[in-house]
Amino acid sequence: MTKSDLKDLALQMKFPIVSDEGLGFLIDKIKENETKKLLEIGTGIGYSAVILEEYVDSITTIERNIYIYKIAKMNIEKYSSGKITLINADALELSLEDKYDLIFIDAAKAQYRKMFNKFKNNLTDDGIIVCDNLSFHNLKPENVSRNTKALLRKISNFKEFLKTNIEFETTFIDVGDGMSVSRRKR
Ligand SMILES: C[S@@+](CC[C@H](N)C(=O)[O-])C[C@H]1O[C@@H](n2cnc3c(N)ncnc32)[C@H](O)[C@@H]1O
Repeated sequence: MTKSDLKDLALQMKFPIVSDEGLGFLIDKIKENETKKLLEIGTGIGYSAVILEEYVDSITTIERNIYIYKIAKMNIEKYSSGKITLINADALELSLEDKYDLIFIDAAKAQYRKMFNKFKNNLTDDGIIVCDNLSFHNLKPENVSRNTKALLRKISNFKEFLKTNIEFETTFIDVGDGMSVSRRKR
């Protein structure tokens, strides 16, 4: 069994994971910024954490769903080289003391703004916050349910929040399902 079996498992379970391009992009950012400590919000089954741990000194990753957390725990025990700390909690109810060089937000899209505002306090001065799924599968509001439409509006509001943020500057990248990279303005 190898780490990439985790990708097959996610596909079998129809469980969402970061895209290959998104993962490659994250690895480039980790190298570029010499990231040592990474915080991930939204562990899922542990795929991204297990792949990314090779490139950093440590990863703290948070998963709120107890069933998914248990699957992640098993996968991390099996595939991790020991650099991953897995926490079962709702990230919005958790207080972390540490600072991280890279914060990867890949959780409930409707909460991105709250997550960004909360965890920016855990970002090192030169650190970056990367958010995934900002294109949200390129869905168009006219073709989706009311709930999805509301979610699309929230993602659009979050992008506007990033564009007009006085503290952070953000680049939007058309990679994977749409990513953003935010760093503090100087
Ligand atoms: C897209 S999956 C994460 C995929 C994972 N990063 C990967 O690429 O392998 C999103 C996960 O975020 C979790 N999640 C959503 N909101 C959360 C929150 N407020 N706190 C912690 N986890 C959350 C969900 O339960 C789900 O498992």
